[in-house]
Amino acid sequence: MQVDGHTAIVTGGAAGIGAAMASALLDRGARVVITDLDEWKVAGATAALNRRGPDSAAGLAGNAADPDHIDAAVALAEERFGPVSLYFANAGIAGAPGLAATDEQWDAVLDVNLLAHTRAARRLVPDWIARGEGYFVSTASAAGLLTQLGSATYSVTKHAAVGFAEWLNVTYGDQGVRVSCLCPMGVDTQLLRPTMPDDDAGARLMQRAVEAAGEVLTPEQVAVQVMAGIEDERFLILPHPQVLDMYRQKASDYERWLGGMRRFAQRLGGTEPAAPA
Ligand SMILES: NC(=O)c1ccc[n+]([C@@H]2O[C@H](COP(=O)([O-])OP(=O)(O)OC[C@H]3O[C@@H](n4cnc5c(N)ncnc54)[C@H](O)[C@@H]3O)[C@@H](O)[C@H]2O)c1
Repeated sequence: MQVDGHTAIVTGGAAGIGAAMASALLDRGARVVITDLDEWKVAGATAALNRRGPDSAAGLAGNAADPDHIDAAVALAEERFGPVSLYFANAGIAGAPGLAATDEQWDAVLDVNLLAHTRAARRLVPDWIARGEGYFVSTASAAGLLTQLGSATYSVTKHAAVGFAEWLNVTYGDQGVRVSCLCPMGVDTQLLRPTMPDDDAGARLMQRAVEAAGEVLTPEQVAVQVMAGIEDERFLILPHPQVLDMYRQKASDYERWLGGMRRFAQRLGGTEPAAPA
């Protein structure tokens, strides 16, 4: 698909990978609505986008997992630029990492990393089937194909995001709905380098694991890969190509892969940061 002339929504679009994808979309002639949590961040990022392509971007503050916010973002995009052809379900959080995470903490991560995707698809896919085209781009993670050392919530919700994107593709792919699933390893953003307390062992293990696993890319490098993946209408977008080999190794000998991951975690200083209370 060529994005030129199409309207896109990018959630979590005021920073990191989302902001880079929004810029790349504008550079290729698309119109973009970005959404993010904070009004000031959205306003700043939208102004920066409009400096690249005048009157090509709009922004809306809100929670990507809130169905009312999803409706409002779609309405804004339609009013300013026309029907939404591409939706980038990109907003994501690391969340509470270990086995001690409470149900409320699990709910918070599930809401953003999975249910924001299912709710957006529920809103858009019927329109896309009626129009015969639409493109859903899920930002999952290599953690959704492999695992995330140090974080159960992140591993599980990213696996779920991959599972949902696969299901969308299989179910609606023959009705004009295209789906891609972005699964990077380390990308140099706030999510990878949060400000954290010294005793946040889970977050530190996550960060060490990601940095030790391979090159940390810039958001702009990832955005270039995403645009190429969309042009090719490729399901799996892997900015770190070695993830495919790791995924094959996992599938071909699960026991060996699990043992290897445990050894990798030990080398990094342990698997589980805090014992559950
Ligand atoms: N950085 C990495 O190493 C990496 C690797 C693999 C996957 N990812 C995924 O990439 C996506 C983007 O993350 P990033 O690395 O650019 O991080 P980031 O923190 O720089 O950007 C994420 C943006 O999403 C926003 N956001 C968070 N929760 C939101 C919500 N409920 N509603 C709306 N906006 C919300 C944040 O405010 C932030 O601006 C995430 O889904 C993340 O899991 C990141």
